[in-house]
Order: sequence, then C-alpha cells, then structure tokens
Amino acid sequence: MAEKWTPDSWRSKPIVQVPDYPDKEAVADVESRLATYPPLVFAGEARKLKAQLADVAEGRGFLLQGGDCAESFAEHHADHIRDFFRAFLQMAVALTYGAQQPVVKVGRIAGQFAKPRSSNIEKKGAIELPSYRGDIINGIEFNKESRIPDPERQVKAYRQSAATLNLIRAFAQGGFANLDHVQRWMLGFVKDSPQADRYQEMADRISDALSFMRACGIDPDNTPQLRSTDFFTSHEALLLGYEEALTRIDSTTGECYATSGHMIWIGDRTRQLDHAHVEFFRGIKNPIGLKCGPSLDSEELIRLIDVLNPENEAGRLTLITRFGHDKVFGHLPAMVRAVEREGKKVVWSCDPMHGNTITANGYKTRPFERILREVEAFFAVHRAEGTHAGGVHVEMTGRNVTECTGGARALSAEQLGDRYHTHCDPRLNADQALELAFTVAENLRKDSDTSLAVNT
Ligand code: PEP
Ligand code: CO
Repeated sequence: MAEKWTPDSWRSKPIVQVPDYPDKEAVADVESRLATYPPLVFAGEARKLKAQLADVAEGRGFLLQGGDCAESFAEHHADHIRDFFRAFLQMAVALTYGAQQPVVKVGRIAGQFAKPRSSNIEKKGAIELPSYRGDIINGIEFNKESRIPDPERQVKAYRQSAATLNLIRAFAQGGFANLDHVQRWMLGFVKDSPQADRYQEMADRISDALSFMRACGIDPDNTPQLRSTDFFTSHEALLLGYEEALTRIDSTTGECYATSGHMIWIGDRTRQLDHAHVEFFRGIKNPIGLKCGPSLDSEELIRLIDVLNPENEAGRLTLITRFGHDKVFGHLPAMVRAVEREGKKVVWSCDPMHGNTITANGYKTRPFERILREVEAFFAVHRAEGTHAGGVHVEMTGRNVTECTGGARALSAEQLGDRYHTHCDPRLNADQALELAFTVAENLRKDSDTSLAVNT
C-alpha cells in the first residue's frame, strides 16, 4: 500500500537540487503568503490538456512543447512574449500539416524559473560562488550578494507568471492566433530561408488547403478554431515549497492540482524514486512529464511509471527522452519495449536539446545538426517499434539570438557572442525553431504515408 499523500508529504523525503536559504523563517513567510494568492491556472484547464494528451498517447495528435530554458526577470517584455508565441504558432502549423492531426500546444513559459545545476559552485578565475539556480531563487550576476537565495523572488516569479499568462491568454483567444496571420508569417519565413525550395512545397500545400476551406465557406470569421487556439503552460516543478503553496483542492472533484501551470515535469536530476520530487508529483492530478536521460534504466522507468501513474491513465504521463544524438539507439528501444510489454499508456516526446550541449568558443552551445539527428533517431526508433512518436520538447525563443550553432544560416561558433542572451541553456532562434518544425513535419508525413500504405 502506498503511504498517504499530502501536499507536504515530500518534506519528509530526501531531496536534491534545492537552494540553501539562509533565513528559513522568511521562506515560511513567503510560502504562507503564496498560499493565499489566486491560482494561476484552473483544474478544469489541466484536465482539458490531459484529455488532449490522452489522444496523443493513443496515437491521435502530436505534442509541441517549447520555450525558454529559464525565464528571467530582466527579459520580461511584451515583445519577447509576442515573438515567442508567433514562432511557436508557426511551428504548430507546420506540424499540424505534417501530422495531419491536432497539435497540442504547451509552452515552457509563465513559471519556468527554477534550474537544476550540474554543480553547486561556479568558478571564474580564482573566484568561486554558489551557482545561479534561476531567477526564482537567486541572481545571475556573478557576485556574492546576488547568489544568496532570496525567497522574495518567489513572489516576483508568481507575479511575472500571472502577467505573462494574461498576455498569452489574450494572444491565444483575441485574434493574434488567427490562422491567416500565422500562414502569412510562415510564408515570410519560407521566402527568406536559405532552404526555401525545400519548404516551398509544404507551404504551398498548406495555402491550398486553406483556400479550399475558404471556398467551402470555412474561414476564421465563422470558425472559432481558425482564429483562436488552446495554449497551455508548463515548467519544471523544482522548487517544491513554491509548488506546494500553489497546490489547491479542486472544488469540483475534491482532488489536488498544482495551479502554478497546466503541466509540470520532473527533471532528469530529481527523478529518484524515493525522493521528494517523485513524492510530490504522485499526488497532484495535473498532466505531468518525466525527463528520461541515459542514466535511467528501463526497470526503474517502469517502477517510476507505477508510482506516478498507478491507474495507467492516458494523458497523465509524458516521457520526455533526452539522450544525446548518438545515444538514442542505445537507450530508447529498450525503454519503448519495456513500456509496451507492461502495457503502460504514455506520450513519448523527444527533447533533442539537453543531451546535446557542448562548449565552443567559450560558449555553451548545441549544434543544430545534432538536434536534428536526435529527432530523426527518435522517429526511426518509434517507426521500428510500431509506437507513436508523440511530441517534441525544445528550448527556443522567437528572437534572432545566436546560441545554437548551425541551421540553414550556418551560424558559426565565432558568431555565438553576437546575441547570446540565454540565462541558462542555449535556445533555438526563430529560424532554427521553424526549420526544426519542418523537419519534424516531414517525418510525421512519412509516418502517416507509411500507415496509409499499411492500412490499404
Ligand atoms: C531543462 O529542461 O531545462 C532541464 C534542465 O532538463 P533535464 O532535466 O532534462 O536536464
Ligand atoms: Co535547459
């Protein structure tokens, strides 16, 4: 029998990747204030996302999840949010066309503030300081003062999340997401892309489909689905005191939901079975993600699934695999087979970012061709195993940053310093993100052509 779960039962478990706050009373004070603030999202919305993900788990749909590695207080501008949302919607249109299925849209946004770190210490020259852990915990500036964890930052992160979410809800519902606009932006990208020829045909086909629908009398003016979209938020729920304070009982079901975001996930560094993060996640009813890296073996994965999704509910659990471009074939097939053997219902999503980080020219970067290779390998494995390649999870921005090398514009290591703005890991810029979406769309297209061939 599982032990009784409460929103604070994680507190009696071992925990890693937590800040060492100097003033524990101040932390308790912030948490009790947060507990009185309004929820950022509603349980009903989380259930809606779970239902959409259940379709993906059953092979009907595709999950697009993406956004900043770490949101920051300094970059909280309407323009950034708008540019991100625009790039994200363009990706979604390309993917919808490729998959010929609905695309479930989940941002890493409005709460993606806390970062796990590979080292507790950051060193510059002879100076050693505690690592930056995300703006919700401490400051990125390399000085002693700024690296001290400050609980008041949680309140600021909550307020920023609320403001971001407010704007995103307006964009999603208020006309910005109109398919006609998105289509026009995408045509602009295709025209300017060095790989224009490769994308032109797909862009033309999407235009034809829209013209045909219009001729049939279906257009954004009379069809709400063409002028608005469902968009959900997600983040790594690393800072459990904050998450607990925003955990609320849903009045319609009496169940506990994390209301800090629609979907939350467990990072690759905090997925120990008997630790605090798994304990917290098992009791909340949101759709959740689990990062699966090369150090996770299949048996442990099955035990984690048993704990996190004991009722085997489709849509509850998304496995986000992140092995590295050259490790997918060594790890993913065994995982897929174990999950299939045990009859577990999951969404398989590919994070091609976190296994492919290298240092070049003094910058943390990710070569675009490795990112593509990991995605291609992910599709190849699922094709071979007869399972559904259900989604991608990317770090991206709508801005023209220079953080990942390669892509159609062949960004070089020497150019990384030009516009390197990330607060943590290197992100795809808008062009690279859309290029990735076209590649994924081509793969999905291949899959749907293959399944047609098998069915006839
Ligand atoms: C992340 O998604 O930013 C992250 C830290 O990923 P992972 O837990 O997979 O390393
Ligand atoms: Co990251």
